[in-house]
Amino acid sequence: MADSLRSVIDRLSKAGELRHVTKEVDARYISALLVKADKPLVFERVRGFDFPVVGGLYWTRQRLAAALGWPEAELGLRFPQGIERMVDPVLVDKAPSQEVVRTGADVDLTTLPIPFLGEKDGGPFISAGVVLAHDEEQGCVNAGVYRMMYRSPRQTSIDLVTVSDLRRSYERAFQRKEPLPITVSIGAHPYEILSAAFKAPPGVSELKIAGGLHGSPVRTARAKTSDVPVLADCEVVLEGEIAPIGWTVDEGPFGDFAGMYTELRWNPVFNIKAITYRKDAVFQVIQMPWENAWLGAAATEAQVWEVLKRAGVSVAAVRVTEGSMCRFSVLAAIRKRAGGGKNALMAILSLPDTKHAIVVDEDVDISDPVQVESALTFRVQADRDVIIIQDAQAKHIDPSVRAWELPKGELPVTAKMGIDATIPERVPPSHYERIRPAFLNEVNLDQII
Ligand SMILES: Cc1cc2nc3c(=O)[nH]c(=O)nc-3n(C[C@H](O)[C@H](O)[C@H](O)COP(=O)(O)O)c2cc1C
Repeated sequence: MADSLRSVIDRLSKAGELRHVTKEVDARYISALLVKADKPLVFERVRGFDFPVVGGLYWTRQRLAAALGWPEAELGLRFPQGIERMVDPVLVDKAPSQEVVRTGADVDLTTLPIPFLGEKDGGPFISAGVVLAHDEEQGCVNAGVYRMMYRSPRQTSIDLVTVSDLRRSYERAFQRKEPLPITVSIGAHPYEILSAAFKAPPGVSELKIAGGLHGSPVRTARAKTSDVPVLADCEVVLEGEIAPIGWTVDEGPFGDFAGMYTELRWNPVFNIKAITYRKDAVFQVIQMPWENAWLGAAATEAQVWEVLKRAGVSVAAVRVTEGSMCRFSVLAAIRKRAGGGKNALMAILSLPDTKHAIVVDEDVDISDPVQVESALTFRVQADRDVIIIQDAQAKHIDPSVRAWELPKGELPVTAKMGIDATIPERVPPSHYERIRPAFLNEVNLDQII
């Protein structure tokens, strides 16, 4: 059996890291139950639907690492291996994801258990789809993850507000007044989702990176209604076209990955021509905000490792912070040479999404907020160790950049901050020796109690 989401579900079930809910549930409660659960859930019976639902697989760092089968600390080290060892996808004739084919009038999104994710969302959202499209300019198949809001049984909207490869392909099709054929593969293996959520270098298909992570080609099949590929081993596929209507349809609000609602937006629509699925398909839900946030963490950490290495910094560990939704603030532990703390900060802050960076010495455990705060307190002099950069590239999603005040089409800017929390130059490290209780190794509690 090819590696797939269902093989991951099987593995996690056997390890006791996923719970099966056998009681019938109302689809309205899926999101709330996923957020309340201490493990990912498979809802075996969803009232009124023939599809079980899986969700919560990537809700925490630990769950993402378990699903990927990687050690938690190595997210940013494992992901680049996919880029280093890329493998071309293959086209197969018989795809499990096409065992059942519904086209034309048989296409009906209301047969899928698509839940409301956030209380104030504008509608139910499909959140776990890998969108494939031909990218003529780059000469490859582009893969990205895009949310889709339910509009009617054969139509969703698609969020193409942010600059992306798919948006660029759509802009070209729109200029020619032609629809853009796409496929949406729901319930893909975590390597496929992780790669699709990553911005691959120009001309590189994210499917090759996923192949590199698997160590074998990603299996694709030809769509039933176009020449765009689909993921052969996913659970459910939507095929169709993004209509050449431009950004004209109201979409949202949406509880986005930053943990806040994005306001109503204008977006194009996706008209669905076929739905295909496995005979016993499971419908996947990626619950906002943490599943989306953590899926971006591996790529962010990989980028930080990369820029630090290129800057000649010896890196011991890298972590995104949770409060920054695993993206905007970064911690790095380094083996410092004189001036290395500042060099590291300049390198990390050159990344477009990084707003705040903290660099500490290797002896500080960056997975422990108390140790990081201790370094911030005792290794930092704010007048010497804080770097502030004005007017750098920003993301709309950060309310503090006040993007809504800008004239239409203008992009927001942000201030960036770096804190060098390494032991200052000319302070002897011996001043930081940690207290150890006297005779620590000479006595044990069980000898006394
Ligand atoms: C669960 C999830 C949902 C996402 N939804 C969107 C979205 O609706 N719109 C968007 O522009 N990016 C979204 N992204 C981020 C894109 O997938 C990411 O930027 C990707 O690199 C875009 O690929 P492309 O530029 O190759 O098309 C999402 C990511 C994840 C993990």
